[in-house]
Amino acid sequence: MSKKIFSGVQPSGNLHVGNYLGAIKNFVNFQNQTNTECIYCVVDLHAITVRQEPNILKENIRETVAAFIASGLNHKKSIIFQQSTVAEHSEFAWILGCSARMGWLNRMTQFKEKAGIDKEKASIGLYVYPVLMAADILLYDTTHVPVGEDQKQHLELTRDIAHKFNLDFNSPEFLKIPEPMIQKNFSRIMSLKDGTKKMSKSDPSGLSRINLNDTKEEIENKIKKAKTDTLPLPDNSKELENRPEAKNLLGIYSSLNNQDISNTIKEFSGKNFSDFKNKLSELVIEKIYPISNEMSKIKKDNSFIDNVLLEGNIKASKISTKKIEEVKKIVGL
Ligand code: AMP
Ligand code: TRP
Repeated sequence: MSKKIFSGVQPSGNLHVGNYLGAIKNFVNFQNQTNTECIYCVVDLHAITVRQEPNILKENIRETVAAFIASGLNHKKSIIFQQSTVAEHSEFAWILGCSARMGWLNRMTQFKEKAGIDKEKASIGLYVYPVLMAADILLYDTTHVPVGEDQKQHLELTRDIAHKFNLDFNSPEFLKIPEPMIQKNFSRIMSLKDGTKKMSKSDPSGLSRINLNDTKEEIENKIKKAKTDTLPLPDNSKELENRPEAKNLLGIYSSLNNQDISNTIKEFSGKNFSDFKNKLSELVIEKIYPISNEMSKIKKDNSFIDNVLLEGNIKASKISTKKIEEVKKIVGL
């Protein structure tokens, strides 16, 4: 059976090694499989659920495309497009919002985290964000969604909304129920400053993450300053459970090197952090710096990026226009 892949990344700046290892690297793997159609979306409407500076947003949209291409996506093989240019996403989100239930949305942990203590002041967009995400996915009859672990709950909600819509309108199997594709290992890369916190674009400390556009010196410096503990590296994975920073750094190493963490543990068992950090810096520079370098080349050519998006927008529109017509018919609009 052929697979249909859909995923999205917000153009909110500071794309980091967590985005790469948790999501974008997988996008490339799917693109290179046979019988697989891939659609990757720059989800600008999701980004504006929190305040964005208009001029910077525009640049970040281009930068996200540059990161996709520099990481190995090919716009001739995958559809790469910008969410807000395909109006059917917003339209479908409204319709799905009428099937989704308040009780379901009230359970979303990402909203609780992002809204903070004063929920009354959060935007309505931030609250209905997962419904727009469901629309993104369901509009394309997606079968598989590669994302980091933090998006798991949103995907479960997407499945619930699809089921309810199919039931509400007595149209079994009209909306396809998508499978989340979350890596088993290292699906959540943690902050370099606190191994219990997710590496995040919005962390105020730049030292907490390695960005995809960092220079070699920045990479070295951030790894040198990464938080550690005082013990030598362990010889078994059980000990890592109480050592979140060691676990995270060994995880990043393993994931970048495509190897099981048990092999990384073997390689560095008994060594101190400074030896390990030197090796980790070398590896991050080997794997991430070429992406950074390529991104800065691509970013110099705005018209190339804009054309990639234009091409993708046309292809995505073709699919979504057809689906929304069917949706409207089913709903009686
Ligand atoms: P976002 O930056 O929120 O648009 O996320 C884009 C993709 O990167 C999503 O699939 C996220 O699940 C994934 N992602 C974001 N942060 C991390 C992280 N720290 N570790 C692993 N995956 C992540
Ligand atoms: N919510 C996702 C994130 O923050 C981004 C996203 C929006 C997405 N629409 C999507 C991911 C559809 C997968 C599929 O990471």
